[in-house]
Amino acid sequence: MINLSEKKEHLIEVKNVQRIFSMGEVEVQALKGANLTIDEGEFVVILGPSGSGKTTLLNQIGGIDTPTSGEVIVDGKNITDYSSDELTEHRRDTIGWIFQFFNLIPSLTASENVGLALEMAEDMEDWEIRAQEALALVGLGDKGDRFPAQLSGGEQQRVAIARALVKKPKIIVADEPTGNLDWKTGLEVAQVMKNLNQEEGITFAVVSHDISISEMANQVLYMHDGLIYDKPQSAESAPSAKKVVTE
Ligand SMILES: Nc1ncnc2c1ncn2[C@@H]1O[C@H](COP(=O)(O)OP(=O)(O)OP(=O)(O)O)[C@@H](O)[C@H]1O
Ligand SMILES: [Mg+2]
Repeated sequence: MINLSEKKEHLIEVKNVQRIFSMGEVEVQALKGANLTIDEGEFVVILGPSGSGKTTLLNQIGGIDTPTSGEVIVDGKNITDYSSDELTEHRRDTIGWIFQFFNLIPSLTASENVGLALEMAEDMEDWEIRAQEALALVGLGDKGDRFPAQLSGGEQQRVAIARALVKKPKIIVADEPTGNLDWKTGLEVAQVMKNLNQEEGITFAVVSHDISISEMANQVLYMHDGLIYDKPQSAESAPSAKKVVTE
């Protein structure tokens, strides 16, 4: 039992996480002892050069991959110790994912694409109403019957956001969510995410190079060579340095 009188725990804690990929003789140290804490309701942006370990980090939080050493604690549970069944449950119930390429199924309507997340969770009750509600939250209440090819890039990404949020996850993890969109459309998609953060209380961990997204963050983290810093470590991530908001 959680003792409610105790100080509130962080929603996400990554503690000294290493992730080593072994490929024959060669070892790649993607994470070298990464640490971070994210509290409930935060909107956290992670910046860093290609290959610095950002996706590997999100995969640890999202239960897609497990650390070589260290601990990942999400919502008070040490997921490092999880069995594969427990990890499946974690991916399904606690985390919503948004990717750079929207990964919508072309032969399904927007509403059916969103409903698919419920079907996969074997939680189909009232799926059409819930899909419709999720689409309304991202401003697509009137476009549920459209197929992906009948939607703009920004609208397709908003369908993908609706698909991530229809299960009402505590946390949404996004890997370059605006990387495939022009600046203006990216800003609209970023604003949809920020609204969900503020109105629905969903915690966001977002990997992005997009300045408009880092401006929305209440914590900006910088990855460099498998480690996480609170200040930029390389010229590539430096332009956003002035955007850091300290609490
Ligand atoms: N499954 C894997 N097997 C072997 N090496 C991997 C694997 N996944 C990632 N790596 C390596 O780990 C390092 C970190 O990769 P990661 O994908 O986390 O970087 P990233 O910061 O997300 O980069 P990008 O901005 O290009 O997406 C890289 O050197 C990559 O080649
Ligand atoms: Mg990546």
